[in-house]
Parts: sequence; structure tokens; C-alpha cells
Amino acid sequence: MATDLKTETPLARIGEIGKYEGQTVEIRGWLYNLRESGKLLFPQIRDGSGVIQGVALQKQAPQAFEALKGLTQESSLIVRGKVRADKRAPGGYELDVSEVRVVQKVPESDPYPITLKEHGVDFLMEHRHLWLRTPRQAAILRLRAEIIKAVRDFLDERGFVLTDPPILTPAACEGTSTLFPVDYFDEQAFLTQSGQLYAEATAMALGKVYSFGPTFRAEKSKTRRHLTEFWMVEPEVAYATLDDIMVLAEDLICFMVRRALEKRRRDLELIGRDVSKLEKIEAPFPRISYDEAAAMLQKGFEEGKLETKFEWGGDLGSPDETYLSSKFERPVMVHRYPAAVKAFYMEPDGQRPELALCVDVLAPEGYGEIIGGSQRMASYDLLLQRIHEHGLPEEAFKWYLDLRKYGGVPHSGFGMGIERAVAWICGLEHVRETIPFPRMLYRLYP
Ligand code: 4AD
Ligand code: MG
Repeated sequence: MATDLKTETPLARIGEIGKYEGQTVEIRGWLYNLRESGKLLFPQIRDGSGVIQGVALQKQAPQAFEALKGLTQESSLIVRGKVRADKRAPGGYELDVSEVRVVQKVPESDPYPITLKEHGVDFLMEHRHLWLRTPRQAAILRLRAEIIKAVRDFLDERGFVLTDPPILTPAACEGTSTLFPVDYFDEQAFLTQSGQLYAEATAMALGKVYSFGPTFRAEKSKTRRHLTEFWMVEPEVAYATLDDIMVLAEDLICFMVRRALEKRRRDLELIGRDVSKLEKIEAPFPRISYDEAAAMLQKGFEEGKLETKFEWGGDLGSPDETYLSSKFERPVMVHRYPAAVKAFYMEPDGQRPELALCVDVLAPEGYGEIIGGSQRMASYDLLLQRIHEHGLPEEAFKWYLDLRKYGGVPHSGFGMGIERAVAWICGLEHVRETIPFPRMLYRLYP
């Protein structure tokens, strides 16, 4: 059949179809949907960059008409046709189809399982490998890629060096309760919870670094914010204080949101995001201490807006974060939590040593924590003491303690979970849609 097609036709991507107005182009893709109306066919063709509606008339394009007629959803096909501007068309253009070559026809006896009607989430998750093809899911993945690129551009342009930490590690970083064990020959190893400790080492070598990679938490939590495998970006800066990295986090978030609005506005609109909310994301972000947050939460409880009374000293739960973040139109930075609820490596506040020099950034609209960071502990002796208090194996942390022995400096950094950031920017209900193949408590397939 390939010989049926003339060659010099330009290969066009639907996402940039406007460049070809008035020209005959070739599109390689899949049949997303087909409407038939007598001697007229309206195929909707997708190629991964967008969807375009075609028109095929029996009289003018008999070959195309016959090839398309009765063609099953998601059959792969190569289409040629002339690009025509049409104000009513979703992307602004339609294709007058002249030739069609079906590459693989989906059998009528075994049709594509995801139809255009509504499906339940469990069914869609079970068919995630196919669900990704729907325009909404594809738009979310384009946004994810754009956001990751924005994060990397932001850090690269500011002189940060990307240093990849190991994924197989000998010890915990964020607490022992959420480690995935791995049998490493005759040794016990774990999948990394965070690249931070290694980023601290590379920061002492290179000054400003970041790690970006998959991280793992064996969390038994089944919430809309938790994955067991997620991607984290972790900048780490030698000589930086908590205040310095709060400014860095603020600038990073603004940059990321602006980039998404600039480059992927169409996709944001396609998924129904209220972009006016994103347009309000500008520095400076409000900064509140844990003490102030606790007072706000207690007031919220008294006003009947929270079910449980917040006690000073506890960590913020999801409902607490949701409540606090819904009070602001911009991300809010909550700093100086009690050291007891945070990780072992955080520097104590000089004025109040019971507090840690740390920050959580809570995204607005009830999204909650997207960034967690801190100033790192400088003292060798205190760090060793904390390692013991947390029941961590000193042997495995010898190298980490060395960083405080050989030219230790104040340093700080943070981690941002890409999926949480994408869920917020896209306005999604659940993080599961922000990653191609989510891993969750009850989800390991496909
Ligand atoms: O607050 P966390 O646990 O901090 C760290 O891991 C630090 N070592 C980071 C650092 O300072 N370099 O995690 C950081 C971020 C969270 O704010 C959240 O966005 C994301 O990682 N995150 C998760 N995302 C999805 N599913 C989970 N189970 C997550 N746990 C944390
Ligand atoms: Mg955290």
C-alpha cells in the first residue's frame, strides 16, 4: 500500500499544524474517533502532539473514504490531506483528507477497550498503557515534561551541576519506616528515599548541585498525594542558609509555573485548568512559622473547619496542610518545625534548639506540601548523636559524618516531588495521573 502514496508531501505534527495552512501534508498517527454521515466521514486523528478532525468525502476522495469507512478506533494510519483553517474546529484547523493508508487495523472482534464513554478509575488504571493515549492524559504528560525541563533549565542557568545519586543505598535518609529492602548479594540494601545525603557530598565538591531521579517510599498510605515511586529534584548549596533556599524554592516555583503558562497554555486549557489561579503565582510567597501555622490550625478547629484539634509539637497532617494552603493564593512557606517531627540531619535553630531550620512549601488550592527542605546540621558531634537517637547504623553514615570533619560549611537544600508539583499546576485530583506508570500501595501493573 505504501506505494500508493506520493512522496514529496511534508510530514506534519498536529501540534504545529498551523504552519501548514493551505498545504497538503502527511500525518502519521491513530484513529481517535470516527463519525460517519452518509457520504461524509469525519475521522479524528491523533499523532501524540494533538488531535485534528478530518473530512473525507466519498466523491472527492474515494480511496480515503473506503479506507476509513468502518475503521475501528485506535487503528494506526497514515493520512494525507490539505490543512484548512476553521474557527469552529478545536485546534483551529481541519484536514481535507485525500489519501489514507491503514497501518494496522484494530480487529472488530476485539475492539480497543477504552471507548469514548466514561470509564471507572480502576479500569483506566488497569489499562494505563492505553489510557495514556487519550488527549487529556497526553496533555498532562507533555506538561510534566515541560515542568521537568523548566526545573532543569532554571538550575542549569544558575550554575548548578547535575550530580546523579545512587538508587541502591546502604541506609535510610528520611526515616526507617518507609524503606524498600533489596537483597544486594549478601548485603542488605535499600532503594533510595532521597538523593540528599549524596547531594551534600557533591555540593562540597562542586558548590551548587542538584540531583534529579526516582525515589522510593514504602509508605502504606493510600492518599491522593502518595506514590511509592516518585521523581524528586533536590538542589543542595554549600554556604547557603535556610533563608537562601527559601528564596531559591520561591524563584523555582515561579519559573516553573510561568514556563507552563508560556509553553503549554493550550494543554492547560485542554485539561480544564483555571489558568487565572496560576497567573497569581508570583514572589514573594507568604512565610509563616510552625508556631503561627499551629495557631491558625487551632483557630480553624474552633471555627469548626477542622475535625481534630492541632496540638503544638505534632507534624502537619494532610487535612492540616490542605486547610493552611487553602488560606493563601500563593504557595505558603511553613518554617521551623519541632525538630522531633523532622529528619535527623536538620540544623537546630540557634534561638530555639527544639526547632529545626526547615521549610515545607505548601501549594495553594489545598494541594499541600510540594517541597521539603532545610539547613543541614553542621556539627559532627551533634550529628553523630542524632544518628544514634534515630537508631541509625553509624557504620553506614561514616562517609556522611566525614563531610562535617573535612571542611564542613553551613549548607542547605530541598527536595521537590515532581508529581506533586505537576498535580498542582495541572489542577489534578490525584498524583497518579502525573506519571506515565504510577506505583502505589496496590498498583504494580502495568
Ligand atoms: O519532605 P521529603 O520527605 O524530603 C526529603 O526527602 C528531603 N531529603 C529533600 C531534601 O531536602 N533534599 O520529600 C520531599 C518532597 C515532598 O515535599 C513531596 O513533594 C515529595 O518529595 N514526596 C512525595 N511525592 C509523592 N509521593 C510520596 N510518597 C512522596 N513523599 C515525598
Ligand atoms: Mg516532607
